[in-house]
Amino acid sequence: MPLSRRDFIGGLGSGLALTACSGLPRISLEQGNSQYDYILTAEPSPIELIPGTTTPAWTFNQGFPSPVIRARQGQEVSILFRNRLPEPTTIHWHGIRLPIAMDGVPFLTQPPIQPGEDFVYRFTPPDAGTFWYHPHVNSLVQLGRGLVGPIIVEEATPTNFDEDLPLMLKNWHLNEDGSFAPFTSPRAAFRMGTPGAWESVNGQQNPVHNVAPGSLVRLRFLNVDNTVMYTLAIPDHPAWIVAVDGNPIANPRPLTQHEMGPGMRLDIALIAPHEPGQSVSIKNAKGRFLFELMTLKTTAEPALGSREISPLPLNPVPEPDIENAEKLNFVFEWEGAITPTDKAGKSNHQFWTINRRAWEGMSNGNIPAPLATLDLGKTYIFRLKNVTPHSHPIHLHGFTWTVLRSNQKTIETYHTDTVLLQKNEMVEVAFVADNPGRWMYHCHVIEHMKTGLMGYITVR
Ligand code: C2O
Ligand code: CU
Ligand code: CU
Repeated sequence: MPLSRRDFIGGLGSGLALTACSGLPRISLEQGNSQYDYILTAEPSPIELIPGTTTPAWTFNQGFPSPVIRARQGQEVSILFRNRLPEPTTIHWHGIRLPIAMDGVPFLTQPPIQPGEDFVYRFTPPDAGTFWYHPHVNSLVQLGRGLVGPIIVEEATPTNFDEDLPLMLKNWHLNEDGSFAPFTSPRAAFRMGTPGAWESVNGQQNPVHNVAPGSLVRLRFLNVDNTVMYTLAIPDHPAWIVAVDGNPIANPRPLTQHEMGPGMRLDIALIAPHEPGQSVSIKNAKGRFLFELMTLKTTAEPALGSREISPLPLNPVPEPDIENAEKLNFVFEWEGAITPTDKAGKSNHQFWTINRRAWEGMSNGNIPAPLATLDLGKTYIFRLKNVTPHSHPIHLHGFTWTVLRSNQKTIETYHTDTVLLQKNEMVEVAFVADNPGRWMYHCHVIEHMKTGLMGYITVR
């Protein structure tokens, strides 16, 4: 019997998930049934990150890395999500254009999913690329403890890569004994956030991936960290950027260094060395220094035939009508002095503002006003202005921005859902407000979003 698509993608997902670094026993991965393509269960689950220690992680399907969800462009994917955490949660599909009811933001798009409850996410991704999923509740803790995973939308017409590696970058907040260190402190939230001490790729330090000599490799980097910026570099081997933040670029360009803020992705294509036993070392640049992130190593097999790097098909992102666009200003500011108390008398740090408003949080029946209300179908240009001395990866749910210009660098127009604003940078992005709903709009440095740098826009 031929494999149905369901078996196919379920199988791929499980195959990748089983490469978990944890040596601990795991139940069989529920990989979908006749009703759902995937079953994703969030639950507390001890994992072994630092060898010989146990980390009290919260995971999807009892291990890390999380299952790789593989959907196909233009085809519906259904995911049965089961909350087995001791607290409410939701799942957000970062970067995917989908109906508001599937966006996974508590109160704004759905009631929080209570412990023991299930929720079915079902959507048809219009764009192919590298995206990710994460809760949108108590994010510092839920993401910090490990609830982050890749969702890959495969191109409607298959591409010709020999290897396709989703690679999640995360600095875990670990003490030496594997226990969690604090995810935040007010002092750090007021600055660049609290970096975790244990840097990893898919939950491993300096992993080595074997690839066939001469193979065409697609590296899908995802910055799923709460805080840390990564600057990718492959200094000793030719590599091309083929997609940025889930969106293919028209002309692949050589990778020199590329900075990724939290939430951002980068797809790199390269041809592995033709000799067996060769390595390609992938680095993270910090200042002037390069640090080893991971290594590709060629196996002993004979080299594959000749391979070529070609551009990926572009995504069907609606073309903004720049001529008739309405311009809106968003100023991201530092309001260090405010630490008001909330209704319960608890001190609530609010360090950051968007257009002079700090996000006050929401609850059932208490949803703050939107930062802006847009007309359905119209083009908008958002002028994003960072007047703080720190950088901010600014993210809008539900839409794909066309990046037009920056006051600090020349930009070749590209598409993204997350723009990394450097200090004092102003960037203009355009998009067609073609999807009705209330869409979150925030900095993806989680400590910034938790201390004010968040809001939403309404499209109707
Ligand atoms: Cu990764 Cu509100 O998003
Ligand atoms: Cu998002
Ligand atoms: Cu920020």
